[in-house]
This record gives sequence, structure tokens and C-alpha cells, in this order.
Amino acid sequence: MKIVILGAPGAGKGTQAELIAKKYDIAHLSTGEILRNNIKAQTKLGKKAQTYVNKGKLVPDDIIIDLMKEKMRSKECKKGFILDGFPRTIAQATALNEIADIDFVLNIDVNPSILIKRLSGRRSCANCGAIYHLLSNPPKKKKGICDKCAGKLYQRDDDKIETVKERLITYNEQTKPLIDFYSSKKKLITIDANRAIKANFKEIVEKIDSHIESQ
Ligand code: AP5
Repeated sequence: MKIVILGAPGAGKGTQAELIAKKYDIAHLSTGEILRNNIKAQTKLGKKAQTYVNKGKLVPDDIIIDLMKEKMRSKECKKGFILDGFPRTIAQATALNEIADIDFVLNIDVNPSILIKRLSGRRSCANCGAIYHLLSNPPKKKKGICDKCAGKLYQRDDDKIETVKERLITYNEQTKPLIDFYSSKKKLITIDANRAIKANFKEIVEKIDSHIESQ
């Protein structure tokens, strides 16, 4: 199964993609997570990406397309994958079309007024990237510590309010057009994701299972 998950910053793409990957035993490829790991390690890619990510701008298409081509060919993607954060522009979607045959695109639709609340309370694990929220999804074992690997939780640099505003503008201008792009290809499945994490996941599973049955 090859899926794309689409949605505004803070909609819950990473949260749902993690659950979907586990349930259907497919790889979770998050471009944001890959870039953050490279920035942390100050690799060549990380150094190039840093200025864009910190300003809430998109990293140039050619860099991302080459990166994702390589990732999708890797062993971890043999059973399929869910792409979280890619494609983000029409140019990336066109390139993806030539690389892989995507089964469907999940559009995580959330009221814009909710996005800021989700982003401002987000905490991520510095070690494994697991996603938490101070109010809606705090760690169950120990405050500030990841349940899965005991890594320290931190607030992402790009979750500062000024950068968040820029990310939302970037999303509306460059990524939102992908909704029409995939809708016209009859690949789009939209989820009303204004509810709690579990309720959203239940609906996603129903939609994925009915898609699988119809094949
Ligand atoms: P990326 O990391 O992909 O950021 P994003 O798209 O802005 O998405 P987020 O990770 O902020 O949100 P999410 O939708 O995954 O929400 P989450 O599940 O965490 O990209 C970062 C940057 O990298 C970009 O700005 C760009 O610079 C660069 N980049 C990445 N891909 C690129 C590409 N293809 N091309 C060019 N540049 C690229 O949830 C948010 C919070 O809400 C969490 O705290 C979570 O616990 C909570 N939450 C989730 N669901 C619910 C719910 N239902 N109810 C209550 N709380 C919830």
C-alpha cells in the first residue's frame, strides 16, 4: 500500500501516519523528521535545509525530490509506505507520479482555528521523533519524557508563533492546491479531523479498509 497524507501544519499528519504505519505494517516517511534529523547532525542536506525550515519556507523541490526518490527505493519501503509531508508542491506531486503509483491520498481536514492550539502544545521526542501534546496527548509515564524510548521531549524551533504563521501561509499558497490536483485524479479521501486522535484514526481505518476491499 502506498499512501500520501496531506494537511495543514499541525493537522495531525505525523500523529495519524505513525498509527497507520504501525497498523498496516508499512514505512512512515516524514520529510520534516528527515530534515530535522539532518539539521541536528549538521549534514550537507541539513545545512542547506536549515534556513528554509527555520523561516517556515519550503526546501527547494529538487533537493526534496532526490531525497524522497532514494528513500522510497530503500528496503524499509518494500511493503509500502505512507508519505507524510511529501509532496508539498505541484512540482513534487508531478515528480512523485513518475516514481510511484500512489493508491490514495488522505486529506486531514482541520478547522484553521484549531491548528495553532495543536502546534503550540506540541512536544516531540528528541530521540525517536514520537509526537505528544501537553493537553491532548501527554506522555503517560513521566512528564517531559517519551513513553516509547525515554528520550527527552522538546518544542520544535519552527513551532514559534512567527514561524507557524509563515508555515500556514506557505501551506495555503503552495500545498493546498494539491487537494484539487488529487481530487481531479480521483485519489483524494478527505477526513474531518477536528475530533480526538482516536476518533480520527477510527474513521481513517474504516476508509482505508473499504478502499482495500474495493480493490
Ligand atoms: P513538517 O514537519 O512536515 O511540518 P508540517 O507539515 O508543518 O506539519 P507538522 O509536523 O507541524 O504537523 P502535523 O500535521 O504532522 O501534526 P502533528 O501530528 O505533529 O515540515 C517541517 C518543515 O520542513 C516545513 O515547514 C518545510 O520547511 C520543510 N519540509 C518538509 N517537507 C517538505 C517538502 N516536501 N518540501 C519542502 N520542504 C519541506 O500534530 C500536531 C500536534 O497536535 C501534536 O502535538 C499532536 O499531539 C496534536 N494532535 C494531533 N491530532 C490531534 C487531535 N485530533 N486532537 C488533539 N490534538 C491532536
